[in-house]
Amino acid sequence: MCGIVGYVGGKQAQSVVIEGLRRLEYRGYDSAGIALVDSSTGTGQIACAKRAGKLANLEKALGEVALPESSTGIGHTRWATHGAPNDQNAHPHLGQQARVALVHNGIVENFASLRAELESAGHEMTSETDTEVAAHLLEREVQTGADLTTAMQRVCQRLEGAFTLVAVDGQDPDRVVAARRNSPLVVGIGEGENFIGSDVAAFIEHTREALELGQDQVVTITRDGVAVTGFDGTPTEGTRYHVDWDLSAAEKDGYDWFMRKEIFEQPSAVQDAMLGRHDASGRLQLDEVRISDGELREIDKIVIVACGTSNYAGLVAKYAIEHWTRIPCEVELSHEFRYRDPILTRNTLVVAMSQSGETADTLMAIRHAKEQGSRVLAICNTNGSTIPRESDAVIYTHAGPEIGVASTKGFLTQLIACYLLGLYLAQVRGTKFGDEIALVVAELEKMPEHVQTVLDDAEKIYALAAKHSKTKSVLFLGRHTGFPVALEGALKLKELAYIHAEGFAAGELKHGPIALIEEGLPVFCVVPPEGRDELRQKMISAIQEIRARGAYTIVLVEEGDDSIVPYADELIRLPRVPTLLQPVVAVVPLQLFACELATRMGHDVDQPRNLAKSVTVE
Ligand code: AGP
Repeated sequence: MCGIVGYVGGKQAQSVVIEGLRRLEYRGYDSAGIALVDSSTGTGQIACAKRAGKLANLEKALGEVALPESSTGIGHTRWATHGAPNDQNAHPHLGQQARVALVHNGIVENFASLRAELESAGHEMTSETDTEVAAHLLEREVQTGADLTTAMQRVCQRLEGAFTLVAVDGQDPDRVVAARRNSPLVVGIGEGENFIGSDVAAFIEHTREALELGQDQVVTITRDGVAVTGFDGTPTEGTRYHVDWDLSAAEKDGYDWFMRKEIFEQPSAVQDAMLGRHDASGRLQLDEVRISDGELREIDKIVIVACGTSNYAGLVAKYAIEHWTRIPCEVELSHEFRYRDPILTRNTLVVAMSQSGETADTLMAIRHAKEQGSRVLAICNTNGSTIPRESDAVIYTHAGPEIGVASTKGFLTQLIACYLLGLYLAQVRGTKFGDEIALVVAELEKMPEHVQTVLDDAEKIYALAAKHSKTKSVLFLGRHTGFPVALEGALKLKELAYIHAEGFAAGELKHGPIALIEEGLPVFCVVPPEGRDELRQKMISAIQEIRARGAYTIVLVEEGDDSIVPYADELIRLPRVPTLLQPVVAVVPLQLFACELATRMGHDVDQPRNLAKSVTVE
């Protein structure tokens, strides 16, 4: 939530910051703002512009009233927490004398008492935000003679909650200072210039060299240097790394939406997620799982914690992991898990599933698990993000940057990582023979091709979306691994098309949801493969039952299974794959449907209302 950018170097800071904000806008788009150190007048003043709404509004304003030239600046794109998304509450916020400007991602939990303290000392606040107090505190420190770095260290020691802060001081024009606690922040290292960003997309067109910061650290960037300290001022070092994707990955590449591009990238994303993780005989090699075989053998329970789409990937994983390893596997929403006193021991493996690696609820869940002595393994797409950094081990999903707010390739690659983890555990614990594991690996190897086959039929799904573009409600039904697919199909429609959509386990229909069925209601039905006939027959009965009550049935069924044809108003053919792997292909038409329906409804598919890509506040 919220994108932040900082720059100091030889270029025009305004264009670097605005371009960075454009690449981070998916993190929040309630308002946008920029502050530059006015180096032209030498007055020590900050030039600032901010506007409610999307970045385009700020750019329009900057076109009308130009800011002075500057080589040092900060910017912000907001997902509102405290205060309405209007111009006043937009960041940057200034200190009392407008000498310091500051942007913030997160929540300052003790802002009310700090605000009262400042107001009683005569400070006047101009916004309803928690951020403005940090700007005033910071300026008060520099006014006493502290440099911006020291001032930031002092202020951070007074703040409670989650925050990334980035600030500039008008009287110290070549320095940008940032700090982080429980919120993302990364440094981009250039030549004669340095950058700050919520993630590397902020500066990827300038440098692919990055520095990952730890918890409770302050970083100071100048043109030629980067210095890191703890909040107490102790010098420390970040971890340097090379970003393994380039600018083209952060471009739409001719597609209308990032989401559509990301859907079509899924065959290669799935391939990359598999790459180098098994040998020619199908034996898994997950070297990055730095938990010893002995410890893996002692695990007696797995708990997957995640939110949203990642949670649905976890629900699929449960079927596979329990089947292959016979270890009980629970899947829980991170925010529910954290606050219900879950039973965890040293032999519980907690798997934190997160595309962004920054979801606050999941982060808090793994901290709680670690306090109880459990081992934590992250499945994550974002290198160097907080969740893998705080976990004992990580399986990266290698999907490349996911920019559309709705997760697509993130989900598919999470599924692959879960299958690999399940098979690896089965290999280590000997619950499956090597040749059985090799057979599943061989099936997984075919997945990129199968996903491509589904994508080749996209036009048919688009036509279906056109036909239902006026619908007010859609249901999704599945059994077994088809159930989480139904939940994910419904979530995609809710977040993109803003219509009522619900996913149900088909077996649950007669326990209530069948009352929702009325004439013409579109219902997507995921039919299990023929290999699981007991499931398939029950699903076919459910389809007959809802059709008899007027539902318009859109049936996803594998190639060659014609038994359902008489009961399907529409058929979507899926490649023949084993039941446990079916979600990888079954979810793709649902992603395409949601993307196309939302497009036809005139919605912003990449930036749906009220949402942000990474949810960094609880
Ligand atoms: C998916 O389309 C969502 N926008 C959302 O549910 C997301 O999956 C969830 O917030 C979890 O994010 P994470 O994977 O980055 O932790």
